[in-house]
Amino acid sequence: MVQSLDESLSNFSDRLSELIKSKKDIQIITHIDCDGITSGSIITKSLIRAGAKVTAKTAKEMSHEVIRQMRSDGRDFYIITDLGGGFAGQLDEALGHNWFVLDHHEIPPEEHDNPRVINAWKYGIDGGSEICAGGMAYLAAKSIDRNNSDLAQIAVVSALGDRQDVGEKKSFNGKNAEIAEEAKSAGHLQVDMDLLLVGRETRPLVDSLAFTSQPFIEGLTWNRDACISLLTSAGIGLKDGGRWRTPSDLTDDEKRQLIEAITKYASSQNASQIMEELIGYTYTFPSEERRSFLRDAREFSTMLNSCGRIGRAGVGIAICMGDRNRMLQEGENILVEYRKMIRDYMNILSNERWRISGSANCIMVNGEGIIPETMTGTISSLLAGSPKNAGKIVILRTNGEENTIKFSSRKSIGCKSHVNLSVLMKTGAAKFNGIGGGHDGAAGAKITKDKLDGFLDFIEDSVNGSQNQNNIK
Ligand code: C5P
Repeated sequence: MVQSLDESLSNFSDRLSELIKSKKDIQIITHIDCDGITSGSIITKSLIRAGAKVTAKTAKEMSHEVIRQMRSDGRDFYIITDLGGGFAGQLDEALGHNWFVLDHHEIPPEEHDNPRVINAWKYGIDGGSEICAGGMAYLAAKSIDRNNSDLAQIAVVSALGDRQDVGEKKSFNGKNAEIAEEAKSAGHLQVDMDLLLVGRETRPLVDSLAFTSQPFIEGLTWNRDACISLLTSAGIGLKDGGRWRTPSDLTDDEKRQLIEAITKYASSQNASQIMEELIGYTYTFPSEERRSFLRDAREFSTMLNSCGRIGRAGVGIAICMGDRNRMLQEGENILVEYRKMIRDYMNILSNERWRISGSANCIMVNGEGIIPETMTGTISSLLAGSPKNAGKIVILRTNGEENTIKFSSRKSIGCKSHVNLSVLMKTGAAKFNGIGGGHDGAAGAKITKDKLDGFLDFIEDSVNGSQNQNNIK
């Protein structure tokens, strides 16, 4: 019988306190993205506080190989965060009952009965919009000790990193809203209505405006020169002495001036829609220093994503667990490097047009030979944010390890397709001996190279003939 969330959490904390008392070795295995880094950190930190012998490790995805390694590592117990959906049977076989999964990805119905799977969906919580792995790990950490409620702010970062700020004006829904409220009432989080410009605390105003691509403002987005003239003609100073001003330096009057200038600039576009998207809730950690990339929770999440994407997830974990010394500088360097990589890949994709083919419902992008596997999610999300691709499904592919091809799919803004990308990637990959999964609007898959043509045909048929494909809805 399916347990309630409270029963599962109490089972979790009972088992963990036994393991801690008997000094068992515990390993956390977590995903490399922001949600993986935050969930892994939350649970690791709560276990360290409780006196556990614990180590943390990251994985790009769950696979037979990762499970084989866990088995041969021979730890006493494993906690898998933000990974593991669909693998419960194999985990039981390899590790007996010595594991828990804390996750929010959709899982097959048969996993609902497994008491070691602590997944949002089985408790009737929408894991796509109401809680992510960071939130699940936070609930688990609090079940170990109520004092772990100070980790709520890291769970807020995870929800933003997984783009779960899907309520009105970028607010949170469900459990995420409860967690943010806990952080707020403890004085760890400030929530304001403000301009949603990227790099609020750290990026010079011009870059911040130019690199904000949601909303995409034709002529302004990705055009620094146009941004300089707009800001200057709006009477907004770009510098304060020798220092570039950032969006967090703007006074209320300057914000009004900027809104007016953008509205005027975008008058021939859908200005009210643009403003609707440009103003919303911001999430600030007042205890982090001003102009630090950790002060704005969205920037914090971008930094964590960049750590994972360029193979430095350990730096992100150290920062989430409280390191504010050497790792902070490392995090900053990683952000700079990550942004440069994104610019380079986007330039290549726009120059090498042969890489992109499309139909009315979908664009297929070939990133083979240029985009590293770990960056596919970032690039497919950016492509899905571009107005050129509005309404479509974006499917990006690149080379993975050992003769594999990695796919990353996204529904772009305004996409009305009934195809559930999680089901599409999962069933498609399974048909060609690969692995796939994710969410309705964002999912990934991996297959071996020899299956590429067949998999591409399957995707095209499914996406273009979706009305008849009830099995992938
Ligand atoms: O890799 P990508 O960023 O495109 O993945 C989108 C979403 O799908 C992520 O939440 C990821 O964890 C999930 N996913 C999955 N199983 C896979 C690949 C991706 O659950 N095999």
